[in-house]
Amino acid sequence: MAITGVLRPGHVQIRVLEMGPALKHYTQVLGLREVARDDKTSRVFLKAWDEHDHHSVVLREAEEAGMDRMGWKVDSPATLKRLAADIEKSGLCTELGWIDAGEQPGTGQMFRFTIPTGHVMELYAERTRLGNNCGTAGEDVNPDPWPDGQTGISPSRFDHCLLYGDDLDGTVKLFTEVLGFGMAERVMAGPDLIGAFLSCSNKAHDVAFIRQPVKGKFHHASFLLGSWEQVLRAGDILSRTKTSIDIGPTRHGITRGETIYFFDPSGNRNEVFAGGYSYYPDKPAITWHADDLGPAIFYHDRKLNEAFLSVFT
Ligand code: FE2
Repeated sequence: MAITGVLRPGHVQIRVLEMGPALKHYTQVLGLREVARDDKTSRVFLKAWDEHDHHSVVLREAEEAGMDRMGWKVDSPATLKRLAADIEKSGLCTELGWIDAGEQPGTGQMFRFTIPTGHVMELYAERTRLGNNCGTAGEDVNPDPWPDGQTGISPSRFDHCLLYGDDLDGTVKLFTEVLGFGMAERVMAGPDLIGAFLSCSNKAHDVAFIRQPVKGKFHHASFLLGSWEQVLRAGDILSRTKTSIDIGPTRHGITRGETIYFFDPSGNRNEVFAGGYSYYPDKPAITWHADDLGPAIFYHDRKLNEAFLSVFT
């Protein structure tokens, strides 16, 4: 099946306490590239090297850390209109509304809504293309496999978020029945769903939710690397720069991804990861039981660390 409808996670807007240290972290340690600033809204826009669109990470200076919202690129303006109507009709979301083009630089009209777990999502169809300096910018042909001038960890793209919230059933219903996602993996506590790993593409997950008695909380934003060796190198860079590491390098049982979790200077968790399997919509969902959650999350340690469930923004 061709990837249609919702294509991918397009952006995450993260609140940071002080823009200076945050920018140093996201550009020099993580290695994203700054592409634009909006001083009126205290925001800086960044992209990873292998993304073609204008930006994927938005940092906003604020009093409290966390995630403002997550954006999804859809395949066309017609799909944007159709999904907006379907979301409205579903009755699952609150605070729905259209956002004028230009609220984010280079970005067309967006449809914004709050999902049952309390997270603000937005769909958009159009964003200026900057290219990756490897074949997708203007007259750029016969490309090299990677561009010059990479700094820090330098992931190829923003990949997914893991989010905490209360009404997991409502959010899963929205993503699977309205937005067209598939359930790649789930965590069950008896008859209750407590974790959902959802894909709109060929990836093992594009977003994941864990049931927690909170609304709209942010566990991490994750960025893609090409190999386990690059995850190990990321660990070296994080240690060299005295960045606060949460756990890893290790492997997730869920998705099989190789991972390292760490924190930005405001306490927002980041992940860089590699691997995982290819997802197709006809793949049966994998089930994990909550009484053996340790290896599902951290396959080598076989137990959760203290921070996994208790530290989020
Ligand atoms: Fe993750």
